[in-house]
Amino acid sequence: MTATDTTRSSASGTVLSAGGWLDDHFQACREAYAAMVAAAGFERGWRVLDLGSGTGIFTPLLREAVGPEGEVVAVDLDEENVRFGATRDAFAPAVAGSAIALPFRDATFDAVWSANLTQYFDDDGLTVLLAEAVRIARPGGLVAVKDVDMSALRIAPGSPFLGPHLAEACVTVPPVTAESVGSIRGRALRGWLHRAGLEATSQRTFPIDYAGPLEGAALRLWSAWLPYLAALAEEKGVPSEDLDAWHGLSDPEGALAFVRRPDFTASELQVLAVGRVPETNARGG
Ligand SMILES: C[S@@+](CC[C@H](N)C(=O)[O-])C[C@H]1O[C@@H](n2cnc3c(N)ncnc32)[C@H](O)[C@@H]1O
Repeated sequence: MTATDTTRSSASGTVLSAGGWLDDHFQACREAYAAMVAAAGFERGWRVLDLGSGTGIFTPLLREAVGPEGEVVAVDLDEENVRFGATRDAFAPAVAGSAIALPFRDATFDAVWSANLTQYFDDDGLTVLLAEAVRIARPGGLVAVKDVDMSALRIAPGSPFLGPHLAEACVTVPPVTAESVGSIRGRALRGWLHRAGLEATSQRTFPIDYAGPLEGAALRLWSAWLPYLAALAEEKGVPSEDLDAWHGLSDPEGALAFVRRPDFTASELQVLAVGRVPETNARGG
């Protein structure tokens, strides 16, 4: 259960992470996402790696943060995403590579940015991913990780527990996927950065609120997302009173009518965690 779930999947196999959904999600959250990049602490002139860059949605914001004298390099496992990213932003070199075995030398970057990637990794995988991020960032550089906490998902009108119950079912009813565990890890990310050896770690939450009647990207996003979540609720077996509510949202027409209601509201919680690479970074320094 992730904020990036959709009915299409990418070639890398990360569940439901294809471009159209991500674009809609990005457009709907643009203001908060821009604030998250701005809060990461990147400086002008820096060389920043966009780790798990997908279709390159964040690279223009990152390039804005480092200015024309800086550089953003994008890396993603999915070659199709990399090719698409290169067409979106010709100024950000994009390469195919894995986050757990990055094709870069130690201390190559001033900072690493990773958005909506950690949710796809189990705990062992995330340990390796963060060790790689620390390795390729220079001593004194930054590692900034942005991800979601789906246990905080709210939709209304209706029970405030639909989202939390579904998140709980996803991590307790087998099969429990890495994505389900990863999608409620958002507010634990600062601890992960600390354990990866980063210093001065900090974390901020960014709630994103939606108010009906939805239009544009938000309308497309939620009218596709709710049927997906309803199917998941059915599969996982949430409490029966929740299932009744999800039934009404399981087809696109029902979901569309719901998010067009003037009293529809929803909120999701995005998290930014940042840490500094120690000056004495054994491998980077
Ligand atoms: C949800 S998308 C996020 C893309 C982009 N950062 C964004 O926020 O729009 C997750 C991306 O992670 C990539 N990915 C998954 N596993 C990866 C790995 N081991 N190494 C690098 N990228 C990976 C997928 O190909 C996909 O593009």
